[in-house]
Amino acid sequence: MNLTPIIKYFKLPLIIISNKVELLYAKLLKFNYQLQGVEFGSKTMFYGKPHIRILANTQIKIGNNCRFRSGHTSNLIGINRPCILSTHGGNNNKIIIGNDCGFSGTVIGAFTQITIGNNVKCGANTLITDSDWHQEDPRSGPPKPIVIGDNVWLGVNAVVLKGVTIGENTVIGANSLVVKDIPANVIAAGNPCKVIKSL
Ligand SMILES: CC(C)(COP(=O)(O)OP(=O)(O)OC[C@H]1O[C@@H](n2cnc3c(N)ncnc32)[C@H](O)[C@@H]1OP(=O)(O)O)[C@@H](O)C(=O)NCCC(=O)NCCS
Repeated sequence: MNLTPIIKYFKLPLIIISNKVELLYAKLLKFNYQLQGVEFGSKTMFYGKPHIRILANTQIKIGNNCRFRSGHTSNLIGINRPCILSTHGGNNNKIIIGNDCGFSGTVIGAFTQITIGNNVKCGANTLITDSDWHQEDPRSGPPKPIVIGDNVWLGVNAVVLKGVTIGENTVIGANSLVVKDIPANVIAAGNPCKVIKSL
C-alpha cells in the first residue's frame, strides 16, 4: 500500500498537532518549575526537557523570550545533554538571566551568583559554574560570582569558571576555557581563553 498520498494529506495537520503538543508540554514544565519557585518572564520556551533544581532561599530568575534547547537535535549542531540549572548552598544564591537568551544543553550551577545579560547565546554543551563544586575538599577555591554581559556569544563547549566577568558583545570561541575576565567587544578563545581580536 502506498502511504505517501495519505501522509502528504495529513502532514500539515500532524505538524500543527505536534507543535501544539510540544507547546503544551513546555507550558506544563514551566508551570511545574514555577511551583518550585523559578521565576519566568513571558514567552520563554523549552525545546525538550531541561532540569532545574532550585533550593530554598535561592533564586532563579529567567527573563522574557529565552530559549532552552535540551533535546539532542533541538539544535542541529548536536546537544549532548539537557540544559541543567541548579542553585546550591541556600544562602541567597542566584541565577539571573536577562531577555532573549538562548541555551543549548547548557549547564549553569550557582553557589554564589551567576548573572547573564540580555541576548546572550550559549552554544551547545556550554558550562557556566561559579564554584569548584567539591567545597568540602580543601583543594577547592571559594566560589566567586560570574557576570556575562549583553550580547555575549559562547561557542560550542565553552566553559566559564568561577569569578569571571565577560564584557558585552564579546565572542568566546569553541572549546574555550575561560578562567580570567575577558573585556567587552573582543573575540577571545583557547585554553586559557585569551583575546585574539578586537571587534
Ligand atoms: C572564535 C571564532 C568565532 C573566531 O572566528 P574568526 O574571527 O573567523 O577567527 P579566525 O578563524 O580568523 O582565527 C583567528 C585566530 O584565532 C584562533 N582561534 C579561532 N578560534 C579558536 C578557538 N575556538 N580556540 C582556539 N583558537 C582559536 C585561530 O587559530 C587563529 O589563530 P592565528 O591568528 O594564530 O592563526 C571561531 O573560531 C569559533 O570558535 N567559532 C565557533 C562558534 C560556535 O561555537 N558556533 C556554534 C554555537 S552553538
